[in-house]
Amino acid sequence: MATGRSLQLHLLVLLSASISLVWLVVAVWTWVDASHEVDELMDGHLAQAAAILVVQPLELTDDAVADAPVLHRYGARVAFQVFHEGALVMRSSNVGEEPLSKERDGFDTVRYGGESWRVFATRGAESDVQVYVGEQVDSRNDIVLAMLRGMLLPMALAFPLLVYVLWWAVHRALIPLRVLGDTLGQRKPDALNPVVLPETPREMQPLVAELNELLLRIERMLASERRFTADAAHELRTPIAAIRAQAQVALGAVGNKPERDLALNTTVAGCDRAAHIVDQLLALSRLEAGQTEAVTQNVDLSAVAQQVTADLAPTALARKQDLSLEADKDCMVAAHAVWLTMLIRNLVDNALRYSPDSARVLVRVGRSASGRVVLDVHDSGPGMVGADIERLGERFFRVLGHVQTGSGLGWSIVRRIAEATGAQVAVRPSVLLGGLHVQIEWPDLRK
Ligand SMILES: Nc1ncnc2c1ncn2[C@@H]1O[C@H](COP(=O)(O)OP(=O)(O)O)[C@@H](O)[C@H]1O
Ligand SMILES: [Mg+2]
Repeated sequence: MATGRSLQLHLLVLLSASISLVWLVVAVWTWVDASHEVDELMDGHLAQAAAILVVQPLELTDDAVADAPVLHRYGARVAFQVFHEGALVMRSSNVGEEPLSKERDGFDTVRYGGESWRVFATRGAESDVQVYVGEQVDSRNDIVLAMLRGMLLPMALAFPLLVYVLWWAVHRALIPLRVLGDTLGQRKPDALNPVVLPETPREMQPLVAELNELLLRIERMLASERRFTADAAHELRTPIAAIRAQAQVALGAVGNKPERDLALNTTVAGCDRAAHIVDQLLALSRLEAGQTEAVTQNVDLSAVAQQVTADLAPTALARKQDLSLEADKDCMVAAHAVWLTMLIRNLVDNALRYSPDSARVLVRVGRSASGRVVLDVHDSGPGMVGADIERLGERFFRVLGHVQTGSGLGWSIVRRIAEATGAQVAVRPSVLLGGLHVQIEWPDLRK
């Protein structure tokens, strides 16, 4: 951060450079314009002076040339010559006897006596009078320069003031950025509530909004992590205590092999249950945090249902339950196979678990009349009352009075997966088998 260039300095340099450039353009423009104007004015003066000299009566002396006196300190910069019948009769004292210009009429710029001169030449109409009036080119430049100096000098003097005013303006404009920085700097490390500034300029609103969005996501992620930790601690306490108790029984039953085997088997079962709980919690946590890759392929629901019923068949057999599957072909659902496996396993597992021995469980995969892919799980168990059905999906909700073990998380997972895959869930008494009927409907992918 410390190595980044200063926005304030950057703005200041940009603004100052732009203003200087504009000044420069104005100065050049003024120079060109003023030069032109001065040239026209001075040329007019030259012509006028020449006209006066042409019409004035000549005081002709035989030999002497009349030298005009220099009456002003700038007099040296202007000069004139009057020739009569080819002979120099009058001149200013700063020129020699050579004519100022070779031209006899009109304007000319010449070198004379080491200086550059603007010369106007004209002739009398009646008498043979040739007049030259000249002016040093330098004096014209001096006038234009003096004008420019008069304009640019105050600007140059005002430049530091301008930079200071710009610095102040930029400094002021950047206050909200500093306020944001200070606000963030003063936060406690675990503060994730949205950033609220007293006044947010429009340009900064997207930044603040994105920041708050990010804070919200972090908060959700942290909440989910926290919940996972709390859930895991809460849920694993009982199974671990049970495992420990059984392990102690096994340790104590040294001579009694059947008792020891039973205790060890219970220990293994307890470990399996704990592992299952951890799996469920992890799956739920991932679903809640939205940490799931985009679904790119369609999965055959029938194949998944077949796999799950095959996996659970031994469980059903152990309790003499009748687990059957009726699956149509070509029932594709856009979801991860793992999610669908988890969803079906939870439903079938519940149907088997909460139904008595020798109960019937029917799993159906097919299409509804409207073409939607439908999964039905029927059982002949005790079913559920409306109030309990309403609460399915609440974390850790379990109907009281069960002897069956469970975590009360299965339905949270079912609902999250249904939501993530765009499915609708319905739970009602089973008209087919008398127990519970769970129905999940996915949109028709062929449409
Ligand atoms: N098919 C069913 N028949 C009767 N009760 C059920 C059935 N499915 C779920 N339940 C009830 O809903 C509760 C929540 O189920 P679930 O979320 O899967 O948690 P778990 O099975 O871990 O207890 C269960 O404890 C049970 O009381
Ligand atoms: Mg369950």
